[in-house]
Amino acid sequence: MPDLEIRNLHVRAGEKEILRGVELTVGGGEIHALMGPNGSGKSTLANAIMGHPGLEVTEGQIVWNGADITGAEPDERARMGLFMAFQYPVAVPGVTVTKYLRTVLNAHRTARGEEPISLRDFRRTVEAAMELTRVPEEFSRRYLNDGFSGGEKKRMEILQLALMKPALAVLDETDSGLDIDALRVVADGVNSVAREVGANMGLLIITHYQRILHLVQPSHVHVLYRGRVVREGGPELVGELEAKGYGWITDEVDAEEVAA
Ligand SMILES: Nc1ncnc2c1ncn2[C@@H]1O[C@H](COP(=O)(O)OP(=O)(O)O)[C@@H](O)[C@H]1O
Ligand SMILES: [Mg+2]
Repeated sequence: MPDLEIRNLHVRAGEKEILRGVELTVGGGEIHALMGPNGSGKSTLANAIMGHPGLEVTEGQIVWNGADITGAEPDERARMGLFMAFQYPVAVPGVTVTKYLRTVLNAHRTARGEEPISLRDFRRTVEAAMELTRVPEEFSRRYLNDGFSGGEKKRMEILQLALMKPALAVLDETDSGLDIDALRVVADGVNSVAREVGANMGLLIITHYQRILHLVQPSHVHVLYRGRVVREGGPELVGELEAKGYGWITDEVDAEEVAA
């Protein structure tokens, strides 16, 4: 079963220390929500897990299935089954969704030392992924520079998730205003993939808002603030945050830091 352990992680970007001792463990079959006010370091943590070259780990470790990957290159991590829903390149003239997905899939296969997928197998795989995530068939023929809506970009991410079936998926739900229908498509897709893959995938859903967490039920909830996980709980924490906001947590942490 896949297992991600983040131990006392300190991360800097330039002169700024953004993460200051993050502790977080995500196991297979678990759905974790990472919440927190804007600017608390959520995206930085996602990027650090993926090995973003602009970030410097100054202390602590990222351990994946027992192996220390703190210094591993991003493509090495991808090969080990770590996945982050990256936005597609903004303008790739003449590249359809299908062609792009095939390129991505083959890049992963090559990295793992496998042969490129045959056209026939790819069609089958992508059809299954589209069915699972209920992405309409015509979407696959769209061009990447067609100007996707926020909802379509998310749909693209979910389709990649269904195609890759990674051992760990990090979904950084940028606070792009998805309407409820788009949100439901994304949530249904995530739930379908999670159900199908089961214990072979851990999921880390990063969000400032509670909305998606009503549709994708997390098993664990963590609140990040000023570069640390300051609260943890089960799904009930989502409702509590919804009712009370972040203030009751951040005030307490601010007071502790002043006292320290
Ligand atoms: N590359 C960077 N260089 C300097 N500061 C950064 C960089 N990336 C993020 N930050 C800062 O780190 C803090 C946390 O950012 P981020 O991880 O994006 O937070 P969140 O995703 O929780 O909103 C913010 O104050 C942000 O301005
Ligand atoms: Mg962010």
